Amino acid sequence: MDSNVRPESMARISTPELAEAFISEQMELLRQQIGDKKVLLALSGGVDSSVVAALLIKAVGKQLVCVHVNHGLLRKGEPEQVIEVFRNQMDANLIYVDAVDRFLDKLAGVADPEAKRKIIGAEFIRVFEEEARKLDGIEFLAQGTIYPDILESDGVKAHHNVGGLPEDLQFELVEPVKLLYKDEVRVVGKALGLPDGMVFRQPFPGPGLGVRCTGAITRDRLEAVRESDAILREEFANAGLQGKVWQYFTSVPDFRATGIVNGKRAYDWPVIIRAVNSVDATSATVPELDWALLKKITDRILSEVPGVCRVLYELSPKPISTIEWE
Ligand code: XMP
Repeated sequence: MDSNVRPESMARISTPELAEAFISEQMELLRQQIGDKKVLLALSGGVDSSVVAALLIKAVGKQLVCVHVNHGLLRKGEPEQVIEVFRNQMDANLIYVDAVDRFLDKLAGVADPEAKRKIIGAEFIRVFEEEARKLDGIEFLAQGTIYPDILESDGVKAHHNVGGLPEDLQFELVEPVKLLYKDEVRVVGKALGLPDGMVFRQPFPGPGLGVRCTGAITRDRLEAVRESDAILREEFANAGLQGKVWQYFTSVPDFRATGIVNGKRAYDWPVIIRAVNSVDATSATVPELDWALLKKITDRILSEVPGVCRVLYELSPKPISTIEWE
């Protein structure tokens, strides 16, 4: 039987009981596969890699080595949450790599969206490879591949793309959630005790905030993206919209507009709020958000985020617009 095909008899994991049964079964299988060897995982803090990390910590403890690469394009608080949950609460073996300067230096002056994506992907593999080479005795590479990844591509998760490692670093793969759908991964994550903020996280692109700081990324504009996004997420959570709106974020384009800041004429950036509902990201609609909520978010962004003098709410559905700005 092809191990990449989900058996028809496999029940949809929809309850804590079914999740517990899956976890017990996987612990057994992971222990059999890994034995007393070491396994490496690129832990982004996204749902899939977090669930794989939690499963492996339960199954093989410190034999798992997690590498969290901070490329500077993560959302506010994300690297801190990964360290808090995995190192402090779960006592995982976690290597935190501060690669912020490295990524931002490589990206400086690069305006083309696909060139930016390529740099981010290639640099990620390079950083991960460097960390892997420092470690002895690694025989396995864990990946957060899920069933839609297998159905839609060749099974390699584009944004976790550690499949691009050189020949001498080809480890045997460990992919414990590869037959699960996203909703099942979340049920398993909840049963493993991961925080709701991680388990019910909205989709987040591999190149992170890099595609929301359009054109050539500058550090100050990137901070405007990060801070405005944090305000948007906080206000959506306060309004009970977390998990109800499919994806929401801010983008800051690389042009300026006039405003008046502290009585003086300013020439600052606009912040664009994007909120969409979707099932599988191939099409998306724009929800009719409460006006008072939009006003509150606007007021906060204008008063709290340096370098910003305008806030826009985007009304475009997909198609014709894509969800991200580049
Ligand atoms: P678009 O902008 O194409 O986005 O309508 C559809 C969904 O994919 C996410 N997205 C990406 N995810 N790497 C990723 O892993 C990427 O380069 C990328 N670009 C877009 C986007 O956030 C949305 O959920």
